[in-house]
Amino acid sequence: MKYFTTTSKASRRAVDCVIVGVYNRSKLGVGAADIDAASNGRIRDLIKSGDVSGEPGQAVVLNSVPGVKAARVVIVGLGKSGELDAIAFRKAVAAATKAIANTKAKQILNCLTLEPVSNSDLYYLARHTVESIGDTLYRFDQMKSGRKKPAMPLNTIGLAIVKRGDAAKVTRGAEHGDGISAGVSLAKDLGNLPANVCTPSYLARVAKKLASGNGKLSTRILNEAEMKKLGMGSLLSVTAGAVEPAKLIVMQYKGAGNDKPVVLVGKGVTFDTGGISLKPGAGMDEMKYDMCGAASVIGTMAAITKMKLPINVNVVVPAVVNMPAGNATNPGDIVKSMSGKTIEVLNTDAEGRLILCDALTYSKRFKPAAIIDVATLTGACVIALGNHRCAIYSNNDDLQDEIFASGKSSEDIGWPMPMGDQYAAQLKSNFADMANIGGPGGGSVTAACFLGKFTNGMNWAHLDIAGVAWKSGHQKGATGRPVPLLSEFLLSRAGVLP
Ligand code: BES
Ligand code: MN
Ligand code: ZN
Repeated sequence: MKYFTTTSKASRRAVDCVIVGVYNRSKLGVGAADIDAASNGRIRDLIKSGDVSGEPGQAVVLNSVPGVKAARVVIVGLGKSGELDAIAFRKAVAAATKAIANTKAKQILNCLTLEPVSNSDLYYLARHTVESIGDTLYRFDQMKSGRKKPAMPLNTIGLAIVKRGDAAKVTRGAEHGDGISAGVSLAKDLGNLPANVCTPSYLARVAKKLASGNGKLSTRILNEAEMKKLGMGSLLSVTAGAVEPAKLIVMQYKGAGNDKPVVLVGKGVTFDTGGISLKPGAGMDEMKYDMCGAASVIGTMAAITKMKLPINVNVVVPAVVNMPAGNATNPGDIVKSMSGKTIEVLNTDAEGRLILCDALTYSKRFKPAAIIDVATLTGACVIALGNHRCAIYSNNDDLQDEIFASGKSSEDIGWPMPMGDQYAAQLKSNFADMANIGGPGGGSVTAACFLGKFTNGMNWAHLDIAGVAWKSGHQKGATGRPVPLLSEFLLSRAGVLP
């Protein structure tokens, strides 16, 4: 994708398509007012006739408007004047994109960046524009046979600005949006791929491929024998019943010399049947999404390498399949983790924490500046927060605040959750150092407390993304979250936000 900024009026720029906005109660946005003046009141006429309402979600495409240089004008609804926020802005860009997705437009100029949007400066509006277009045009049809619908030929996005002095930060916003969008798309692809394609070995190949030809990024894959040597008995207990071999994927991006890295750990259960504690059949197909934590950290790595961020970041992905079998782990089995701590596996379906604890222990060798694990960890998290926000846990209040703030500014929002000894006590075992489940109450919290037992001495946070990583029903598909949140966190740590 190419980008440009322009101070020209909406009516004066010869592009394939210009996007302008109208609020309800007949109030024209900046670009719409200019188009209206240039075209002898064309937009006001449409408002009078009722064809343009200003309601959010509405998008009306006009061709060859007299007095306007652009070939097409898309008028989108912006809702109530004075109430436009970043979410509504993204929705308006998405509505415009959908409306023109079937046209042959190669360049578009977004004039909505001229509107006042609460809590968002031009940098974020440029980023949201690019991310929202990428999100809307995303398609997953690689598993369908037959002729594919050709992709929209869009290759240039223009962003309207008031003064030349804003050009640099808007261009930077567009470039960052491009990187994040690439990371989100990769995360969606990996999530949407079925488990008979997206195996642990497949994830490993994708991680290897990302590093090939990039001097700053390296990928190493550990096999089961190597994991056994490291003492990862907890991780290996999850893969015991599987035919597909487990992999530990380790990626290192060096964008900032010898600084301590931020380490991102992603749960990579490429299919979760529950194991011997078998899940019920209805909807079990969605457990192909149980590697969305892995997809999000690999996607974030793709984003930051594309943005060439001056920061060091490592990614660690324990990738396994959780299967029942004659040699699978039984409820009640006791396993020894890499840390030396023993775990009574009371439920083989609480497998995410069993692979993550060894990945966290392994990551200590990197002496992380901060370590964040990302996991579709518990159904209880979906009960607690629904499908809107991920849960943010941490052993450090500042880190928890920092991640919460990253979620807010990237519109990939989370919510801080509690931990503590009272919850951790629910994990007591009569036979081992701890059990892998903590009873019916606070299931997302006790899962976090389990992980917390393996993070001593590290600045650690855990994101439970069970509710936000994919959508169900007729919209079934991966969301690519929390790639925007993680990217924002790293952009901020790298000191490159305006
Ligand atoms: N991958 C699931 C969590 C999950 C379930 C995410 C549904 C999204 C939707 C995880 O491995 C799991 O099965 N967790 C159990 C834990 C329980 C046995 C303590 C759960 O949430 O039921
Ligand atoms: Mn499970
Ligand atoms: Zn799982």
